[in-house]
Amino acid sequence: MTLPGSPFLAYRGPDLFLDEVRLSDLVRQHGSPLYVYSRRAMLAALAPYQHALSGRAHLVCYAVKANSNLAVLQTFAQAGCGFDIVSSGELARVLAAGGDPSKVIFSGVGKTRAEMREAIEAGVRCFNVESTAEMEVLSEVAASLQSKARVSLRVNPDVDAGTHPYISTGLKGNKFGIAHELAVETYRRAATLPGIEVVGIDCHIGSQITEVSPYLDALDRVLDLVEAIEAAGVPIHHMDLGGGLGITYTDETPPTADELIGRLLERIDARGHGQRELVFEPGRSLVGNAGVLLTEVLFLKPGEQKSFCVVDAGMNDLMRPALYEAYMGIVNTHQGDTTAQVWDVVGPVCESGDWLGRDRALAVQAGDVLAVLSAGAYGMTMASNYNTRGRAAELMVDGHQVWVIRERETVTDLFKLEHRLPA
Ligand code: LLP
Repeated sequence: MTLPGSPFLAYRGPDLFLDEVRLSDLVRQHGSPLYVYSRRAMLAALAPYQHALSGRAHLVCYAVKANSNLAVLQTFAQAGCGFDIVSSGELARVLAAGGDPSKVIFSGVGKTRAEMREAIEAGVRCFNVESTAEMEVLSEVAASLQSKARVSLRVNPDVDAGTHPYISTGLKGNKFGIAHELAVETYRRAATLPGIEVVGIDCHIGSQITEVSPYLDALDRVLDLVEAIEAAGVPIHHMDLGGGLGITYTDETPPTADELIGRLLERIDARGHGQRELVFEPGRSLVGNAGVLLTEVLFLKPGEQKSFCVVDAGMNDLMRPALYEAYMGIVNTHQGDTTAQVWDVVGPVCESGDWLGRDRALAVQAGDVLAVLSAGAYGMTMASNYNTRGRAAELMVDGHQVWVIRERETVTDLFKLEHRLPA
C-alpha cells in the first residue's frame, strides 16, 4: 500500500519502508525523533520541472528554506539546479554544498548591507528586490564595490493564492513585493541607478497552492507589466514565476509540475513571450513528500473527553501543526494487531499548542514508532531548541543506502555559545 504523496513510501507486509529501508529499524539504530529523506523521491520530484522546461532557456532554483541540509542542497546542485536563497546563511550553505553561485537568486524583503556585499562578491546571478529603498541601498553597495548588482523586481500581482493567510504572499496587504501600479515607475528608476543592472521580473504569490488559476492570473499581470516596462525602454530578460506548488498532505490534488508549467507555457507562448528565459523557485514540491519525521510513542493517556498519544517529537521539531494548524498525515511504521482508537498525537513541550495531529484513528502502543508524513519541507528548517531540546538527527536514504546527514544535537551543543556571569 502506498501513502498519500509519495510512491517511495509504502507498506511491505506490516512494515513501512522508505525506498528499500524499513523505517522502524532506523529509529533503533539512530534514535528518535529522526528526519529521514529519500534522495530518489527528491530527484523524482525535480524531473517533471526539468522535463516540462526542456528545450527552453530556464533555471529551476530550489528554495533553500524548505530544507537546507547540505546533503539536500548537494543533491539538487548535482542535478543542475540553481538556488533561491533569503539570507547570507543560506548562501554559505549553498556554497558549502557545491552549489554554483552564478545560479543563485537572492530573495527576501530584508537584506542587510553586509548580506548584499557578500552576495555580490560571491557572484550571485540576481537579486530579487522588494522595495525602492532596498534597490537604492543595493545600488550604493554595488557601486562601492565597483560592481553592478543584477536585479529583478519582485512585483506584487495582487492575486489570491487561496492558501493559508500566513503563507499567502501575493496580496496587496502582504509585506512582499512592489505594488503592481508602481512597477513601471520603479523599473524606470532602477535603470538610472549606477549600481543596478535590470535583468528580470519576478513574483511569488504564496505556498501550498493547489490550483493552476492563481498562477495564470499572476502570469497575466506579470506579462502586462513586462510589456509596459519594455515599452518604457527597460528590457526584461528573464521572468521568475516563483515557487509555491502544493503537495498532498491528505486529500489535496494539486496539479503536477508538468501540468502547471504546461499551462503557463501555453499562455506565455500565446502572448508572444516564448523566447524569454524562465525561472522557478520551488521548495515544498521538491522535498515535502520525500521526507518523514519518525517519533517514538512514549505514553498513552486515554481520557473521557480526549485521549492523548504522547510522542517524543514536539512543536520544536515540527512547527507546522502548531503554527498553521496544518494537517500532516501520521501512521504507525508497524501495523500490528491492536485495534484503532482516536488519539490526539501530542509532544512533550510545555504548551497546549504542542500537537502534531488531532483526532487521528491509530492502532498504537507505547514504544511504537510513528511516521509523520510529508515532513521533508519546512520541518527541520523551522525546528527550534525550545524547552532545551536538541534538534533531531537527519538521514538520507537511497535504495538500501543510509547516510547520516546531520547528527543529533547534544545538550552541550545547545549552550556552548552561552556564558555564566563572572563569580
Ligand atoms: N520563493 C519565495 C520568494 C518564497 O518566499 C518561497 C516560500 C518559495 C520560493 C518557496 O515556496 P514553496 O515552493 O516551498 O511553496 N513555512 C511554511 C511555508 C512558507 C513559505 C515561504 N516562502 C509552511 O510550512 O507551510
